[in-house]
Amino acid sequence: MAATALILAAGEGTRMKSDTPKVAHRLLGVPMVSLVIATARAAGCDRVVVVTGHKAEVVEALIPGETCVRQERQLGTGHAVMAAAEELAGVKGSLVVLSGDTPLMSAETVAGLIALRESSGAAMTVLTTNMPDPAGYGRIVRDRDGEVEAIVEEKDATPEQRAITEVNTGTYCFDAAVLFAHLAKLSTDNAQGEYYLTDMLSVFRSEGMAVTASLTEDPFETIGVNSRVQLAEASAVLQHRINRAWMLEGVTMTDPSLVWIAPGVTIGRDVELLPMTFLMGDTTVGDRAVLGPNTRVTDSHIGAEAVVDSSVLVGAKVGPRATVGPVAYLRPGTVLEAGAKAGTSVEIKNSTVGENSKVPHLSYIGDARIGRDVNVGAGTITCNYDGVRKHPTVIGDGAFIGSDTMLVAPVEIGSGAVTGAGSAITRDVPAGSLAVERCEQRVLEGWAARRVGKTGQ
Ligand code: UD1
Ligand code: CA
Repeated sequence: MAATALILAAGEGTRMKSDTPKVAHRLLGVPMVSLVIATARAAGCDRVVVVTGHKAEVVEALIPGETCVRQERQLGTGHAVMAAAEELAGVKGSLVVLSGDTPLMSAETVAGLIALRESSGAAMTVLTTNMPDPAGYGRIVRDRDGEVEAIVEEKDATPEQRAITEVNTGTYCFDAAVLFAHLAKLSTDNAQGEYYLTDMLSVFRSEGMAVTASLTEDPFETIGVNSRVQLAEASAVLQHRINRAWMLEGVTMTDPSLVWIAPGVTIGRDVELLPMTFLMGDTTVGDRAVLGPNTRVTDSHIGAEAVVDSSVLVGAKVGPRATVGPVAYLRPGTVLEAGAKAGTSVEIKNSTVGENSKVPHLSYIGDARIGRDVNVGAGTITCNYDGVRKHPTVIGDGAFIGSDTMLVAPVEIGSGAVTGAGSAITRDVPAGSLAVERCEQRVLEGWAARRVGKTGQ
């Protein structure tokens, strides 16, 4: 039977000490709430509802297209579920409740939780784990027969209960109809004066209904992020998990602790990732490419056998065998075709550099279309902005742009044309011709010796 997921994401997250709502904080560039939504879908939940509240508009903007319900005042996790009662009225079967601040939960674990509740026929199945340091979590109290009896929040726990290391992960599967029929039994009679969803366990027990627990072996999966310390811990776990998977797929990492790859990035075989490489957002890397060290790639596509050294790429496309850097900045709309080069201290935006064309040193290329086999000399700049508007530069196949050429756009350099070093090119250059714009050089013979005579040196 298909399940429904409810994701609790309305809390402020006071312990984060942040102006950003907790579930909007990111791991490897992805907001926590988005990671949890992806887990719910991957676990087979065909309907996902997110409870938002604190700075709801900030959270909702991160998850366009998702169904959200508002919990206007945040009176606890049980109250958050009440806020979804109307949206979920009449829902049958399993309702998985996930915390928006538990971003590492695996889809397999959630699917297993659903399967266990359905096979055990329980009103509620809670996912628990043993935490060596259980501080901050609700403790799982079991009766003499080992059955789960209650979840006790740390603030309400006795010293003996605090010593329990089995904790509530904040992940549950309920029989949806039974849950909503009994939600009103929750009270705020506890240390925090909140409606605790965890109290449903004792509510069901007192009604003689079955409650089961599933103990997961992996305490990392269930890390709840309440502080920046836990955010960093969870990020490190995700980083390790993703890097390990890519290494097993044939990616070399000199030091995997110094490589950060976002979920959703795809990488080919025999790719080499050197230290301090970040692959973020919607990025793909082709076979045998070498990236790093000190390289940040966001929303970009890197072709096979490309080499990117100490560079920043955002929204760029790098063709096969192309080379980038050291220290290049490829901004959105940059396309390097096969074998092209953007070399040292080169910035390119919204431009195409054709096959085997080279921009090797110290250049700015903006709004340009460069053909194939073009050489752009050191220090060349497309003057694309007149202070009001941006203008295009077009350079034909096989052109040779002399060093330190200023290409004042809009301007077109014909194929096979040449510009003289140091020229400010303000008019189109026809194919096959040379354009030079510079003062004649004067040579004063013997001048240096005369200067020495005058200054007495
Ligand atoms: C909760 C559990 C605790 C468990 C821990 C696991 C309760 C009472 N306690 O504690 O047993 O060990 O998670 O990580 O449930 N939220 C809302 N609306 C609210 C309050 C919270 O949507 O009114 C959301 C938060 O945004 C968060 C999640 O619910 O995503 C959990 O809330 P949080 O305050 O972090 O609960 P914990 O104290 O961690
Ligand atoms: Ca929490």
